[in-house]
Amino acid sequence: MLFRREDFILANKNLPQFPEPYWRESVNLPSFPSLKETIKADVAIVGGGITGITTAYLLSKQNLQVALIDAGVLLNGTTGHTTAKITAQHGLIYDELIQHFGLDQAKLYYEAAMDAKESIFKIMKALNIDCDYKEEDAYIYTNSNSYVSQIEKEKKSYDSINITSELKEDIPLDIPVKSVLVMKNQAQFHPLKYLKALIDASVENGVTFYENTTAVDLEYNKEPAVITREGHRITSKYIVSASHFPFYDKSSFYFSRMYPERSYVIAVKAKESFPGGMYINTESPTRSIRTTTYNGEELWLIGGENHKTGQGKSTMTHYEELQKFAEKHLTVTDYVYRWSAQDLTTLDKLPYIGPITKSEESVFVATGFRKWGMTNGTQAAQIIADKIIGKENPYTSLFTPSRFQSDPSLKKFMQINADVAKHLIKGKLEYTENNLDKLAPDDAVITRIHGKRTGVYKDENEKLHMVDTTCTHMGCEVEWNGGDRSWDCPCHGSRFKINGEVIEGPAKRPLEKREI
Ligand code: FES
Repeated sequence: MLFRREDFILANKNLPQFPEPYWRESVNLPSFPSLKETIKADVAIVGGGITGITTAYLLSKQNLQVALIDAGVLLNGTTGHTTAKITAQHGLIYDELIQHFGLDQAKLYYEAAMDAKESIFKIMKALNIDCDYKEEDAYIYTNSNSYVSQIEKEKKSYDSINITSELKEDIPLDIPVKSVLVMKNQAQFHPLKYLKALIDASVENGVTFYENTTAVDLEYNKEPAVITREGHRITSKYIVSASHFPFYDKSSFYFSRMYPERSYVIAVKAKESFPGGMYINTESPTRSIRTTTYNGEELWLIGGENHKTGQGKSTMTHYEELQKFAEKHLTVTDYVYRWSAQDLTTLDKLPYIGPITKSEESVFVATGFRKWGMTNGTQAAQIIADKIIGKENPYTSLFTPSRFQSDPSLKKFMQINADVAKHLIKGKLEYTENNLDKLAPDDAVITRIHGKRTGVYKDENEKLHMVDTTCTHMGCEVEWNGGDRSWDCPCHGSRFKINGEVIEGPAKRPLEKREI
């Protein structure tokens, strides 16, 4: 496969050349040193997104000594690339949850999300945070006849759970729809303005943050310890893996119980004024819409186009599809930002939050938020913090990672792992003999060098960056992601920089570098 820079520049007209989320550009985040020694703490947290930072903040208020490390910089993972809706409307989910788990559990899931919304609001008030928080109704709509009856079923589920809602036939946007379900009184905010305040408060409470510090393993002695790539340790009573994909597995096979998806957002200025609300459709391709304020102007955030990581077409075409959608429904005046995110979905669609294994008391995971990280991440922090301080939490058993429901989990388990097996074999058999002479700057190609499958990226200065395309997790072959300039693994979603360094796991080791 050869992706030419000039092709996508022509195709994308005004889309920004490089991906960058609005959230990160509009906040001055503090920076922290890397960990250069072995330390002790009450709680070691791995991962500086909404889950890790909220957990650190909650525990620091209990006078616990917390150390948080991040492999890169804080808030540069999925939290920094979200659409930041604070809602319990997680797609069409409640009818499915009632079918699989019963009404009580479905109700509990709703309450967990609404409690998380309430927690965010309370923290915002307590710390006096100006984070563009705004109550909005959440709309799920369809323009496909085949989803109309599903929306009606979902409405019945809302009624049986006592969710305040309304069934409608239109939305206040210039988009054709056949049926709409509105969940009242949800919210949106600027996630990084909010979390920056939590970082500041945590620092005041004594939390130590370390950036560019990668956790590679966990060691059990008297107390567990996180081991960093440089060989330093954080020995602590409790360890929290809030690193999106758990940095440590303890034979729990999380990689076989979740699948990764990427999705895309473009931030657009348009002549139309936004009528309020947060929107998402039911059918594929997904379209998600909300606005935020940008230098006093409205910025439309249009998202969607999700697909399994490392699979499918050239990633720039996903941005192009969002651009086409924006131009069809809006008078676009500018494309200001574009970015993408990775999300993990579990076998039964409920996050895994709690002890890493059934018998474990000191190591916790929080993962599999299925694109709804603002509420699920906040609730995960609350559940784990409550567990550590010995407080009852009503949602503990709903999200426990050691649960297993044979329906639908078994079927999904088979699907996920059959797909992995297919990609493992496909990558090895693929004939790849592309010509490096034709490679343009800022393009990448997969070719064979000395008989070995090699990923080659040519940078703007025509320097070649070459890596072995065999993923260091379990040996699948990575594919080029032109939209984000990364090598992505189709099996469990590991992602690598052009120099082979890990962007996100489950892989822990970089791709091997190659020379001509
Ligand atoms: Fe598992 Fe690549 S992420 S093989």
